[in-house]
Amino acid sequence: MTGISRRELLGTAMVTSALVNARPVFGMALAAAGGRDPRVEALIAAMTPREKAGQLTLMASAIGGRAATALNPPGTAAGAAAQIAAARAGELTGVFNGEGSGWHRRLQDAAVNSRLGIPMIFAADVIHGFRTIFPVPLAEAASFDPGLAQRTARVAAIEAAAAGIDWTFAPMVDIARDSRWGRGVEGAGEDVLLGRLFAAARVAGFQGRSLTDPDAVAACAKHFAAYGAGEAGLDYNSVDMSERTLREIYFPPFESALGAGAASVMAAFNEISGIPATANHWLLSDVLRGEWGFRGLVVSDYTADEELIAHGFARDGRDAARLAFLAGVDMSMQSGLYLAHLPELVASGAVPVARLDEAVRRVLTLKAAVGLLDDPFRRLGAGRERRLVRRPAHLALALEAARRAIVLLKNDGNLLPLAQGQRVALIGPFAAGAHDLIGPWNVYGDDGEAVDLATGLRAALRDPALLTVAAGSGVEAALPGGIGAAVAAARAADVVVLAIGEAANMSGEAQSRTDVTVPAPQRDLVRAVVATGKPVVIVLTTGRALALDDAVLAAPAILVSWFLGSAAGTAIAETLVGHSAPSGRLPVSFPIESGQEPYHYDHKPTGRPQPPGALQPYKARYRTVPNLARFAFGHGLTYGQMVYGDPDVGGGELGWNHTIDVSVLVTNTGKTDASEVVQVYVHARSASVTQPVRRLIAFRRCRIAPGTSETVHFVLDRKDLGFTGIDGRATVEPGRFDIWIAPSAEAGQPAQIELQPPIASASAP
Ligand code: NOJ
Repeated sequence: MTGISRRELLGTAMVTSALVNARPVFGMALAAAGGRDPRVEALIAAMTPREKAGQLTLMASAIGGRAATALNPPGTAAGAAAQIAAARAGELTGVFNGEGSGWHRRLQDAAVNSRLGIPMIFAADVIHGFRTIFPVPLAEAASFDPGLAQRTARVAAIEAAAAGIDWTFAPMVDIARDSRWGRGVEGAGEDVLLGRLFAAARVAGFQGRSLTDPDAVAACAKHFAAYGAGEAGLDYNSVDMSERTLREIYFPPFESALGAGAASVMAAFNEISGIPATANHWLLSDVLRGEWGFRGLVVSDYTADEELIAHGFARDGRDAARLAFLAGVDMSMQSGLYLAHLPELVASGAVPVARLDEAVRRVLTLKAAVGLLDDPFRRLGAGRERRLVRRPAHLALALEAARRAIVLLKNDGNLLPLAQGQRVALIGPFAAGAHDLIGPWNVYGDDGEAVDLATGLRAALRDPALLTVAAGSGVEAALPGGIGAAVAAARAADVVVLAIGEAANMSGEAQSRTDVTVPAPQRDLVRAVVATGKPVVIVLTTGRALALDDAVLAAPAILVSWFLGSAAGTAIAETLVGHSAPSGRLPVSFPIESGQEPYHYDHKPTGRPQPPGALQPYKARYRTVPNLARFAFGHGLTYGQMVYGDPDVGGGELGWNHTIDVSVLVTNTGKTDASEVVQVYVHARSASVTQPVRRLIAFRRCRIAPGTSETVHFVLDRKDLGFTGIDGRATVEPGRFDIWIAPSAEAGQPAQIELQPPIASASAP
């Protein structure tokens, strides 16, 4: 399978105009220099083996971003004085998650005064914004608008670069099909098409027009590969997987990120079928370099080379360094093993000097590409950070992104939007305080600068005196007297907004859950409040798909608000009162019960599918529930009412070298203008490799005025019907396909199309 082109991105998604601007910057910069930068070659010729190993050694900054220390165990990182000494000795290539351009300037001063004066590179996890915090990536994926993610990544890059950051450990492009895994929050969800589009968009946003621009940061596609597929949803856990599935599901977002010019790749923590990714030569060298032609840098994850010992793959630190390095990891993060062992490994002949030079060349080429060899202080100008962070336009984008990420799961009786003039009880652990609303993976964000829900709602209500606020419960523990106070507040109100769900620290790294439900004390709160008989709107804060039980489902209206960043409270409140209409779609399937995980809409059919309707014996179902989603991938209501007609596929015949126009009539029978995401799914009735029950191949967002209809067209060709063959190569087979044009992955009735075989002279793709 080859990387998808921008034409393909545009052709399949129909909504990716922003990607037109994506440029494979890094590849082009290298090509312009014929692949070799003379300054880089001169440095390599002058370097000692120890200086070379130093260029391959990255450490967590001794003076860290606010959340960095909590997020990364300190490992072997040295104190500030020791890091300055290491920089002065040419033994530290850079630091990550450091705070403040003043500190970075001190380090850079030391580095440029080292023997060869090679500048340091400053990296950071800029996952959903820098100082302006955007919705978590999963929430942004709910917009089904990669262009939005490109814009937020651009602003995040502008702010990070203003604070001296050259390189971000983002985007995370891992497909996440198991909601127990905590890190789905950092990616674009369970679907491959969304994963590809958002990967490319984020890279384009971070890297901007040219990596040398002072407001660009180099991107890092992570975690290569299949990190999201750890057994039982447990973070860091083993993955045992066919090469075909790797190529069809887990690789494509990486290929898209590289196609968009990503400068670097981070190897994953997990093993794949017995070989840890960090020591996986097939993965990091044969596929990444050999097949895909990637010329950028591969960095390890945090101490992942050293962890080869715990995996039971390496004997000791020396062996771990050797294995990771020879497999293709150019730079070691945080273990210090490369500096400790590479000079001796080269001297003893265990590692070829050419491999050492190759890795150093990649690091120096990255430093050259981000402009550091021209000006080591390029992103370290005094005052830039103050001038460029949290500008009004950035905060406005944070609000726009937050509004567009919200998903309306249900709205019985059109309870939403809330009429003004009602007494509103805002209840729940997320009613007041922004910490949990903004999200789990922002190193530099400040809760104090974000808007919480109570503040947002006070501003959105015409009469703020009509709002009462009660916590009701803690996140995972009951509050003494909490339910009593909440019930009293509900009784005294006309309508209740219940802000419940997961705390920020329940998602993210090392936050796997066995039970993906709203924590029990909050469910008790919901039960008690719903029992008052007052209309209840649930606002669900979450970083993953949740299994919502009857207590939660009893509420007539449910909004998923994820973790929305700096403008969370404003965006939610505006949506509640109808100043903004929800338009997001689920990028992950909400299962009926936790035990279905890993549940993803694009699962394979079995030989004994459970037919629609009552549960039947000896069918693929659970004792109590069918294997369906409670709220399917792609689902999301608006304040309009959308009615879909049957798909129109014309005669249904698609010639091998032709296109087919498929369309559907969508009518807005509601009273408000609405934005609808029309989705196209296919299923191959019979193929040489079994195909998913449905697979998203295209989508288009359109606005439909109340009382009007629109015919939404998609032009497909045979590539849209392709899959990864048993030989691991892209394949298209003639045959019959079911096709749905529908509002979600489990809605609608299929039409049929038939892909005709090639005529004798035409060749297969
Ligand atoms: C470990 C995480 O897996 C990775 O995503 C992150 O970039 C590094 N820590 C550095 O913070």
